[in-house]
Amino acid sequence: MRYKVYWRKAGIKPEIGSKFLDIVNQKKPKNFLEIGVYTGVTARNVLDLQSRLFNNDFSYLGIDLFEDYKPSDEKEIAPNYIRSNNQYLSNPLKHLVYNVILKEQLNSIKSVYNFLKKYKDNVKLIKGNSIEVLPTIDLSIYDMIFIDGGHSYETISSELKLIHKRAKKNCLILVDDYFHHEAPGIKKAVDELVKENDYKLKVHHNRFAEILL
Ligand SMILES: C[S@@+](CC[C@H](N)C(=O)[O-])C[C@H]1O[C@@H](n2cnc3c(N)ncnc32)[C@H](O)[C@@H]1O
Repeated sequence: MRYKVYWRKAGIKPEIGSKFLDIVNQKKPKNFLEIGVYTGVTARNVLDLQSRLFNNDFSYLGIDLFEDYKPSDEKEIAPNYIRSNNQYLSNPLKHLVYNVILKEQLNSIKSVYNFLKKYKDNVKLIKGNSIEVLPTIDLSIYDMIFIDGGHSYETISSELKLIHKRAKKNCLILVDDYFHHEAPGIKKAVDELVKENDYKLKVHHNRFAEILL
């Protein structure tokens, strides 16, 4: 499966994105939840795949702080590409188009909704902190949950606690950046949950941790 960047700025590089899409394609999730949407590139790739698999009968829910995200929050570990708040785009043409001409903040909820408008009947985005949003949604409908929001131990551990008991038994829970050297709290939180509950763990491509409930 080829992961397309769609001339935006993505949290996942195309090569690893394609491997991620292979995992999604194996699971074939009708209902998909992503925590950490950023500019919506992974969302769009998942939606393209769901649309090929299910015509119109599928859903995608994305939770993110969107433009309210503050990379300076000292508790959070922000990936390099979102550390600066000024929407730095290394490609000069992208900089010209998005920052100078369109003045479009790519991680704003408006920009992401617009980017995903082809699938407007299947997409819902919620702006908020995952820890506050997760308790308000019915997690039992999701076939796959991709956790790629806050990278601190506190955030991942809280998300996992909120998710694992309310997700359905065969839900595929995938956590990004399991071995990220700047975010060791991710591995710690995942390992704790797996150990405490006697779950099994499968790591894909040295990056994605799959928790088998
Ligand atoms: C690594 S990026 C997501 C990349 C995206 N999954 C992709 O593949 O392109 C992390 C995102 O998590 C969001 N985020 C960080 N902490 C969050 C929290 N506590 N609740 C909701 N979103 C959060 C940030 O706003 C940022 O957009």
